[in-house]
Formats: sequence, C-alpha cells, structure tokens
Amino acid sequence: MRKPIIAGNWKMNGNLAEAEILVKDCIPRLSGIDRTDMVICPPYTALALVQSLLGSTIISMGAQDMFWKDKGAYTGEISAPMLKELGCRYVIVGHSERRARFGVPEPDFTPEILLHFGDNNAIVNKKAHAAVNAGLIPIICVGEILTERHAGDTDRIVEDQTRKALAGFSSSQASQIVMAYEPVWAIGTGEVCAADEADRVCGVIRKAIADCLGEEASQIIRIQYGGSVKPDNAADLLSRPNIDGALVGGASLKAADFAAIIAAS
Ligand code: 13P
Repeated sequence: MRKPIIAGNWKMNGNLAEAEILVKDCIPRLSGIDRTDMVICPPYTALALVQSLLGSTIISMGAQDMFWKDKGAYTGEISAPMLKELGCRYVIVGHSERRARFGVPEPDFTPEILLHFGDNNAIVNKKAHAAVNAGLIPIICVGEILTERHAGDTDRIVEDQTRKALAGFSSSQASQIVMAYEPVWAIGTGEVCAADEADRVCGVIRKAIADCLGEEASQIIRIQYGGSVKPDNAADLLSRPNIDGALVGGASLKAADFAAIIAAS
C-alpha cells in the first residue's frame, strides 16, 4: 500500500508576507494528519522562511526546480545541496513549465506555452540524479501537450519521458523517487483530466517504471496526478488505484482548498 503524497506547487507566487500567512493558515488545518505525506513547494525566496515556520511539523518542504551541478560558475542557478541545507526534502524536476517542447512554438500557441526554460529529457534525468545524490526526493513530472493527446501520442510521450528520466537509477532507489503525471493541457486551465483516463495514464507510467526498474520498484514509486486538482475533483482522482497523490498548483494557494484536497486523500 503506497502512502498518498500531496504536494502544493506555489509556482512564482507569494512574497514573504503572503507566504507566512499561507503557511500559518495551513499548519493547524494539516496537523495530526499522518496517513498522507504533505509537501509545500514555495518559491526559492521563501524557502528559509517556510522552513522556519514548518519547523518540526509533519509537513515537508520542497523546491520547484534545481540545477544538476553542486556548485560552480552557473549564474542564477541553485543546487541540490543548497536546497538540502535549507531544509528541503523534495524538489520538483521536469515540470512542464520548465521543459522544452521540440524547441519550436506549438501549433496551439498560448502565452502559457512560452513558460519553457529548455529542460529536455536528458536534463530532467541529470537533475533527478543530482537530487537523489544530495538526499532529496525528486518529484519527476511527465505529461503530454494537447496536440500530442489529439494525435493519440499520450502513451508514447509519457513512456518516453519516464524511461529517459529514470535512466541510470537502480531498483533500490525506488523509495527516493516520486513521479507526477501532469497533462499539460490540464494545468491551470480548470480542465481536469477525467479520473479514469488519469488513472489509465498513471498505469502506463507504472508499466514504464517496471520496464526500467523492475516490477517491485514500480509498486513502490508513487505517482501523483497534477492539473486543475481542486477540492471537488480530488476524491474521485485520489480513489483510483494508480493515482497515489496530487501535485496541486492554484488550489495550494488557498489553505482551505489545499487542506480539503489532503483530506480527500
Ligand atoms: P494547477 O493545479 O494550477 O492546474 O497546476 C498544476 C501544476 O502544474 C502543479 O505542478
């Protein structure tokens, strides 16, 4: 039985005052919950503050990205050991807002699709290894864009992203890795993936994990669903056998909504 894991990805939201209010609102709502792992991923600038507020609560902290080198002349980057030192336990890698998509504008071009920072599958793999080597648990995101879904390519894309992200890992590292299925068209759109379909695709990801790391590892690695998860759809999604949690964007910015999603797990 895999323990559910719900993570709130605040993205680029929250100054220090807002972060403090939100975390202080979350803590009492989430205290006493031990059947679900809970993670808050604020922007880098709020990590130290959030860590001091979370203190010894059962809520963990994660970062939203990292660079794969430990240190050096990489202006603007932040390494896994730096995140570890700040108290992070998790780090999101390969979020679609950081991935490159074939290096060209999409046919379904929208301002959101511009939110790419060039992370391809090889980079995601390097980041995942650097995270695990530093003692962080990467939350590795995979997911198709709308044109890929319409072309019937969803399974091939998520399989490929999963295999490439997991290259070089061993089965014994399964407990140090979390996966997240985030169909890009469902992120921030309010258009959630139907629970049956999200569960099916998470099953495809689990099969790809089994091919890479073995059947046992595939039963250990938790797979979150992300993309317009809200209090009113969380229970349906989280009741599915292959969905082990949620990676929550917008709804994690409201303590009551985040707590309701966790309660649904
Ligand atoms: P939303 O929940 O706002 O759709 O964002 C999902 C996401 O990208 C979490 O990483």
